[in-house]
Amino acid sequence: MSVSTLKPSDDVIEYLAAHEKKSMLRFITCGSVDDGKSTLIGRLLYDSKLLYDDQISALESDTKKHGTQGEKIDFALLVDGLAAEREQGITIDVAYRFFSTEKRKFIVADTPGHEQYTRNMATGASTADLAVILVDARKGVLTQTRRHSYIVSLLGIRHVVVAINKMDLVDYSESTFDRIEADYRAFAKDLGFESITCIPMSALEGVNITKQSSETGWYQGCALLPYLETVKVRGRLEEKPFRLPVQWVNRPNLDFRGFSGTVASGVVKPGDEIVVLPSAKRSKVKSIVTHDGELAEARPDMAVTLTLEDEIDISRGDIICAGKAPAEQTDQFAAHLLWMGEDALYPGRQYLLKTANRTIPATVTELKHKVNVNTLEHMSGKTMELNEVGFCNFNLAQPIAFDPYKDNPKTGSFILIDRRTNATIGVGMIDFSLRRAKNVHWQDLDVNKTVRASAKHQKPCVLWFTGLSGSGKSTVANLVEKRLHDMGRHTYTLDGDNVRHGLNKDLGFTDADRVENIRRVGETARLMVDAGLIVLVSFISPFQSERRMARDVVEDGEFVEVYISTPLEVCEQRDVKGLYARARRGEIKNFTGIDSDYEAPENAELDLNTAEMSAADAATRIVDYLEKNGYLAG
Ligand code: ADX
Repeated sequence: MSVSTLKPSDDVIEYLAAHEKKSMLRFITCGSVDDGKSTLIGRLLYDSKLLYDDQISALESDTKKHGTQGEKIDFALLVDGLAAEREQGITIDVAYRFFSTEKRKFIVADTPGHEQYTRNMATGASTADLAVILVDARKGVLTQTRRHSYIVSLLGIRHVVVAINKMDLVDYSESTFDRIEADYRAFAKDLGFESITCIPMSALEGVNITKQSSETGWYQGCALLPYLETVKVRGRLEEKPFRLPVQWVNRPNLDFRGFSGTVASGVVKPGDEIVVLPSAKRSKVKSIVTHDGELAEARPDMAVTLTLEDEIDISRGDIICAGKAPAEQTDQFAAHLLWMGEDALYPGRQYLLKTANRTIPATVTELKHKVNVNTLEHMSGKTMELNEVGFCNFNLAQPIAFDPYKDNPKTGSFILIDRRTNATIGVGMIDFSLRRAKNVHWQDLDVNKTVRASAKHQKPCVLWFTGLSGSGKSTVANLVEKRLHDMGRHTYTLDGDNVRHGLNKDLGFTDADRVENIRRVGETARLMVDAGLIVLVSFISPFQSERRMARDVVEDGEFVEVYISTPLEVCEQRDVKGLYARARRGEIKNFTGIDSDYEAPENAELDLNTAEMSAADAATRIVDYLEKNGYLAG
């Protein structure tokens, strides 16, 4: 039996080789439902003959069912994949489409235009080289045109095509086109674009899409597709200094030690000098290893393993940089942040900040201003809501190596993650490092926590009481403190009502102020633990995030969470201070349990309900816990 091997013909091989060499342009299209964005993309694919016959016949039959264009083919149907979108007539996710012409390969991110989908747009823009911003010729530059332009500029896109669409509906009027172009250029002058190209077109009629059309005889410029095929976008990642965020250390045996990750930017070759951050150790690249053998060079987006000439310590989270152009390092920086959380951003709350290869706790220490994405005006604010953009100062638990976003989007961007839900709640673009006073060092003192604690014969800790107003936190804390005092222990109580008269008298009861209230109290309790004390903290402390942060700032075993779980009905019935009655009458706003949230602890060390036990019994339970767990030993 003979087996014939199918060999591709020379033509095919040549074609594939040419295809390989073609450059790639990534672009994003921005516009709203009515600007004809999906029609434009469908038209690009159709006119550049990139649709297969079966897709075209499916399109024709779909057009009959769902089309909004009468007898003409409705190109939007090709692009608006989701059934839900068809029904609502809007585009709701980010769809990436690949197509190629003789001259270039393209990836187009099609994103929704509505304000509530700003986050999707940012996702699409983050990898694009160019943006096509659609403007309806009848409407001109709108609020949403400004919003789209701002977001793409924020995400580092430097080349914009303003597709002035639906020219057929304004009789291909040159003066209309000129007016819109002038408006757009005036608005965009401060957005830092390197090129702005305005093209009059009709996606529906195929005017100026693949070739210059006679309808706009007065237009001397290029049609859209030829423009996209030839536009030069600089600032590609290859041209940036080399960066390899180390994902893991590859050590299969004692003879091999490689550092693996995906090249973020730059090109590296064996023999190149490198510097590793944060250690600042230097060496040279010995080899570049991949599954398919050794390489002569590695470029952006390639997953590689580097071996080095010298044995230096490198771990996951480090960045290997070009020796001559290392990244910066900092634990404080200013950044633009696009907020994507359903819950607001609160300065002082701890989030997880994730870069290419590290995840570290971080807080926004200051919201400098917010940017109105429709008008570009700066606004002040204490919190940020979904889809808002702000300029913030950040503080990180550890330093990171980074580049400013404008220099390198890969090593200059990060996402923020909610510690509780693990959801992505923000995208950030680092502007610059904030130099913190270099002369402030942690002072090691001879009389330290251990010395002080042993002198007091106790293990210092925080007893954190949380629960609704009127649940009995302060009453129980007071009894516990008296008992401990009688036993000769050294204690101190931080109580919400009292601390709010002094240290925190500038704070009210908005969510943002409560976050800051608890952050300060957590830090104060930490100092007191360092002083060797048993610290009783009695605050409603309604949010899990801040209680967790208070737990995290002390060492393991130094935090005992006591949930006074007395139900709301009982607290309200007691109403010792008469505040519930006032809150019900609407005289007090944001009252916990009435019109402000309380997030119950999930893993408190103790859960005590004073509706079912006396305050004295609750106190006994706590003292017993301390004794059993060695806090009072000695
Ligand atoms: S917390 O939520 O920020 O932790 P904290 O424990 O400091 O609150 O203060 C709560 C005390 O402030 C309550 O016991 C009550 O006496 C008083 N208070 C005044 N207004 C409010 C309010 N809107 N919500 C809750 N407590 C309030």
